Amino acid sequence: MAALDDCYNIFDLREAAKRRLPKGLFEFVDRATEDHLAVTGNREAFQDIKLRHRALVDVSGRSTQTTLFGKPIALPMAIAPTGAAGLCWYRGELALAKAAAKANIPLTLSTASMTAMETIAKEAGGRLWFQLYVWRRRDLSYQIIERAKNAGYEALIVTVDSAVSGNREYNSRNGFALPFNPSTKFLMDVAAHPSWTLGVMGRYLTTIGMPAHENYPAEFQGKLTSGIAGRRPEMEVDSLSWEDIAKFRDMWPGILMLKGVNRVDDSLKALNYGVDGIIVSNHGGRNMDSAAATMRVLPEIAEAVGDKVTILLDSGVRRGSDIVKALALGAKAVLTGRSTLYGTAVGGEAGAAKAINIIKTEMDKTMAYTGCNRTDEISTDIFFGDYGSNRRGAA
Ligand SMILES: Cc1cc2nc3c(=O)[nH]c(=O)nc-3n(C[C@H](O)[C@H](O)[C@H](O)COP(=O)(O)O)c2cc1C
Repeated sequence: MAALDDCYNIFDLREAAKRRLPKGLFEFVDRATEDHLAVTGNREAFQDIKLRHRALVDVSGRSTQTTLFGKPIALPMAIAPTGAAGLCWYRGELALAKAAAKANIPLTLSTASMTAMETIAKEAGGRLWFQLYVWRRRDLSYQIIERAKNAGYEALIVTVDSAVSGNREYNSRNGFALPFNPSTKFLMDVAAHPSWTLGVMGRYLTTIGMPAHENYPAEFQGKLTSGIAGRRPEMEVDSLSWEDIAKFRDMWPGILMLKGVNRVDDSLKALNYGVDGIIVSNHGGRNMDSAAATMRVLPEIAEAVGDKVTILLDSGVRRGSDIVKALALGAKAVLTGRSTLYGTAVGGEAGAAKAINIIKTEMDKTMAYTGCNRTDEISTDIFFGDYGSNRRGAA
């Protein structure tokens, strides 16, 4: 695939995705919220950390492999839930899931995805996690949890940072909305991107028809052009509380994680509720624009909870060196949202695989330079300077 061949890093994939997707869809994926403070801060927090290379260490036996929740994975990375994968590529979630399974890393399927969780389990396999947006009517959430359990999902990830949806003004400016808005602006945008229009929408329409949110409860599974699609008001659960987590813990025998934990007290509380993992995340900067960078809140959380709960981190991971830095500060693994989504948008499964491979190669090189053969040898010892000052800085 020519476009993929010209991509040497995640930023190249981003540029290629920008050319391929309608502007409204690209910005829905790429941008964040309000003044883009959080999304910028996430990158700066990674970039502020400088490493020292270690000389004369035999690193010929190094490996990016690690163990997560008792099982080996090839890279300390999982795919984050992103509702838009099925719009970036024809059956994009399946493409991502297949790439993840082949790369031996976990895939998280979003509640808002367009491919049924059962189809992903059957056709892609691999290590599958399911992300839950909680419904105002809790019985609907319980139905979804039962479905994920029956489909054999290993982990349930409850997103806890989305009491309301982000203030994404650019979507309105672009005439972009889910359900699809037949605005003249968006239709012109679509017409100007024939490779997406034919390759994604055209393929849907000539095969399975207009996609739908197949993981929503039956009564809300409208096509993307119908009035009942999109992230529904019923999902904006500003009433979600720790009592819900207790109930989910009772219902879910597998691994339970909370996504969007940013405070020490919340992390400690999660321990009391029998949570197995917390994901330090600010939703890729897409929700609260003044959110602190996740890499800046990670150290104090890791210090407080130690090994009592598995810590993962997302928001801003674009390079393999970012994973090394997150591991050094106490994360066991990271999740990628946009990085792997850009790859999917450019080349489906091959594009997602390319994104994973780019990040893996970069991580391998960073381990070699810093003298680490195994991921458990990565610590702040490889950092240059006093990271303490970074910790206190706001994003
Ligand atoms: C287009 C898009 C859709 C997303 N959809 C969801 C979602 O359905 N559920 C969720 O918990 N997080 C969602 N997220 C947030 C990601 O799971 C993840 O936290 C974030 O993308 C990480 O930041 P990064 O994109 O810089 O890697 C979405 C992110 C993007 C970019």
